[in-house]
Amino acid sequence: MGITVNNNLFTIHTKNTTYQMKADDKGFLLHTYYGKRTDDTDYSYLIDMKDRGFSGNVPQSNGDRTYSLDYIPQEFPVLGTGDYRVNCLQADLGSGVKDCLLVFDSYKVLKGKYALEGLPALFAKEDENVETLEIVLRDYYEEFYVRLLYGVFEETDVITRAVILENKTDKDINISRIMSTCLDINKSGMDMIHFYGRHAGEREMERTPLFHGITEIRSTRGASGHQQNPFVILAEKNTDEDMGECYGFSLLYSGGFNIQAEVDQTHQTRLVMGIDDSDFSWELKAGESFTTPEVCISYSDSGLAKLSHNYHNAFLNNLIRSTWKDRQRPVLINNWEATYFDFTYDKLIKIAEEASELGLDMLVLDDGWFGKRDSDYSGLGDWYVNEEKLGCSLKELAERVNDMGLMFGIWFEPEMISEDSDLYRSHPDWAMVVPGREPIRGRSQLVLDMTREDVLEYIKKRLFAIMDSANIQYIKWDMNRSLAAVYSAKLPGNRQGEVRHRYVLGLYSVLEALLERYPDLLLEGCSGGGGRFDAGMLYYSPQIWCSDNTDAIDRLKIQHGTSFAYPMSTVSAHVSVCPNHQNFRVTPFKTRGICAMQGTFGYELDLSKMTDEEKDMAKEQVRTFKQHYRLFQFGDYYRITSPVENREYTAWEYAAKDGKEACLSVVFTDQHGNPTPQLIKFKGLLPEKEYRVLRDNEEVGRYTGAALMNGGIILPVPKENYDSCQFYASVEQI
Ligand code: GLA
Repeated sequence: MGITVNNNLFTIHTKNTTYQMKADDKGFLLHTYYGKRTDDTDYSYLIDMKDRGFSGNVPQSNGDRTYSLDYIPQEFPVLGTGDYRVNCLQADLGSGVKDCLLVFDSYKVLKGKYALEGLPALFAKEDENVETLEIVLRDYYEEFYVRLLYGVFEETDVITRAVILENKTDKDINISRIMSTCLDINKSGMDMIHFYGRHAGEREMERTPLFHGITEIRSTRGASGHQQNPFVILAEKNTDEDMGECYGFSLLYSGGFNIQAEVDQTHQTRLVMGIDDSDFSWELKAGESFTTPEVCISYSDSGLAKLSHNYHNAFLNNLIRSTWKDRQRPVLINNWEATYFDFTYDKLIKIAEEASELGLDMLVLDDGWFGKRDSDYSGLGDWYVNEEKLGCSLKELAERVNDMGLMFGIWFEPEMISEDSDLYRSHPDWAMVVPGREPIRGRSQLVLDMTREDVLEYIKKRLFAIMDSANIQYIKWDMNRSLAAVYSAKLPGNRQGEVRHRYVLGLYSVLEALLERYPDLLLEGCSGGGGRFDAGMLYYSPQIWCSDNTDAIDRLKIQHGTSFAYPMSTVSAHVSVCPNHQNFRVTPFKTRGICAMQGTFGYELDLSKMTDEEKDMAKEQVRTFKQHYRLFQFGDYYRITSPVENREYTAWEYAAKDGKEACLSVVFTDQHGNPTPQLIKFKGLLPEKEYRVLRDNEEVGRYTGAALMNGGIILPVPKENYDSCQFYASVEQI
């Protein structure tokens, strides 16, 4: 039983964790425990009640000055209760003051997992034992209800949370902040691990000690963004990959977000996470409700690798819906870095012919095939095929490509509009521009007002028309700027704070409609590379272009950071040309292949210009990827060394869930005269079994799993800059 309720004590058990809360005799919902699996003891005895001074006392405390929400751990703290820490809700219930006072109302335990209307959410697989707990809080004075939802996934050790606000009063309520989750932890001294970056340098891991005060990770961009990611970890000081306690928090949301961790005056830590509230407001009319995005939390008492495995398993089993989730992903060739906007029919066909020769599975036609789009200054919004440039119709091109044994895919950027486009000329009010002001441009383009029904209808109409015109099996869905001067002509001035969230809901509704109509479509998310790499997008797209930076060495850090939350089969990675187009670095072709195989593998260069030696290597890479795709797609992923900490080499491994095979890749990032021996240890093998170990397809020996995991194996000496190698250990092939 995942959820037990005893006298308003709510205890949730997953396989390895326990979460507990309690509605106390005063009606407040306290948070009493989250951590290693334990028993059903009422852990509220751990709350140290003292009169601490300058901490407010709610009316229910009846003069007891030791009862203050300012230090009592809570499930859903709100503004205005004498708790001065970061909060989850600021709601003006009519007085002009953003205070409310939430007390326990009722609860329900339901079989299965709740769903959220219009928003991504984890779901239960058929026959999976998942339960929902719903706890309802209500304002002490008004008919304003807050429904707290918990989804309990016992097997994967994750718990989801979401909140629904319900206005059952007869007046409008103004919401200016609503977070999806809060976790109060009764200790301090923890580190926050978060993933910062920039365009072409996303999700670099950073670990910083929390201090007394607020640490904030935020995106105000209307998208999750390259600069921060809606996933953080709180970890004990000594926690590493293999040991120690840590808590993960992932927001299933592709818009702006806010994560705050506060260490308070009594050395407790509170983390809240939800929609960015820096310019948020929501008018909740009488009778209406508002649903927050979902948060997926997890806990590990045995290090970061276990925490990542929990997320990988949960996202693969319970978040990604695509029919492609379990299917072998096509190895694709994308023409962007090969031709940019400057492609012709002949160039594309040459690339496709070469791709077919090398054993690839799909040609993706990137930006430039529609409207007047020979540069990034024009054409967005005009989703009509430029047959003159293409030299044929899309149908004919797709057929030609299909005839070569390749699937065909195409790029779209549906949320955007160029001022130099027919769409803008006929619907200037569809673009987000503040009236009477010059637009704020990004990549010389404007953002479509995705809150408008007419805009969404237009996007769907054009998308479907293109989809129906040719055999398109894949879409790369791009978004190449952040929102700014966010304005919708459809909403009054006092409701403009709703636009960013309504934009995300509009986006999700189009994605939903697209997948409903084309359930077998392989959707790849993209936003100038990995600017919208979040769990919200994974609900729709089983893979996301990880970065516009295709340099193998820069990718080590980007992919390492991405791996903490997101399964590697979602990480789209390509082999590109050298010198690399983003940083001019030269790396061996072999290394580029090994790095791209860390994720969902493909190529992004003019295949017809490759040397014969490169072609042979590419054939070998494609063969290796296809041979081991099950390991790459479904195996447990281990970060063996960190590119942030280890200057000598970066290594990672996939181990089959049954432990019978593993692939360990190493990329050398430094080299020395008279090199010292470097040992590397496998993880996730069966200690007593014997493995045959290949290095780059040559046998290097037979060792037990125990030897490989405890003793390790010696690395070869790098023979050139950024050399690499790949080990494959297997029980079966002995
Ligand atoms: C973005 C994408 C690239 C490419 C270009 C096309 O930057 O990340 O891969 O599709 O747009 O304009």
